[in-house]
Amino acid sequence: MPSNCTLITALDFKTREETLTFLDKTGGALQWAKVGLQLFTRYGPKIVEEIAARGLNIFLDLKLHDIPNTVASAVQSLSELPIRMLTLHASGGHEMLQAAREAQTKHLPETILLGVTVLTSMDDKALKEELGIPSSSKEQVLRLAKLCVDAGVQGLVCSPLEVPTIRESLGNALQLVIPGIRPQGSNTNEQKRIMTPKDAATAGASYIVVGRPITQAENPKAAAQAILEDIR
Ligand code: C5P
Repeated sequence: MPSNCTLITALDFKTREETLTFLDKTGGALQWAKVGLQLFTRYGPKIVEEIAARGLNIFLDLKLHDIPNTVASAVQSLSELPIRMLTLHASGGHEMLQAAREAQTKHLPETILLGVTVLTSMDDKALKEELGIPSSSKEQVLRLAKLCVDAGVQGLVCSPLEVPTIRESLGNALQLVIPGIRPQGSNTNEQKRIMTPKDAATAGASYIVVGRPITQAENPKAAAQAILEDIR
């Protein structure tokens, strides 16, 4: 059965020039790009407009987290940008998530909000000893995922290993956007909880986010095409 999984390339570059050179090299192979804090804090909305002008759908990964009114206002401030997905921290709580969802419905109706649950840089020990959260990270991810669903947030960013549990508990309507993807035989870098593109698609990922296996490849276009073939 063909999967409905879509590839998003993470544009984790230092400069605008590097980013645009990379896009020139991939010439039409990419449909989606993730713009994160690194580019956005340096270049602001302009870089988003510039990348979108090349025909790419934009996933803006700003991981918003503040009081409800501030997050809702930030969502409104993004309303003139061509963004298709936007992240916020689920740990901001129900009221924050709901305020963001209301602002998105009103000002960014075409954009999908994605809740970030537990950062993959946190393990069970850090959750317990630093944040005083006694649950395992798996339980905490599920708790925060449910909080997102209750507030009407349409999707989640999570690790590939969490996809089956989330699908089982919360069904197929949620958009699951999955980083930590490594094609067979590629450098894992510091990513630990990884899956191949094909396995993530089969597990139920709606989108996979791939950075270095494409951005650092000798031939980025061929690397992206191989991944697209793998998830088809
Ligand atoms: O280069 P690589 O494929 O590891 O990049 C993955 C992208 O996904 C990076 O932009 C990284 O910040 C992001 N990400 C992640 N793990 C998460 C959330 C986001 O690797 N839990």
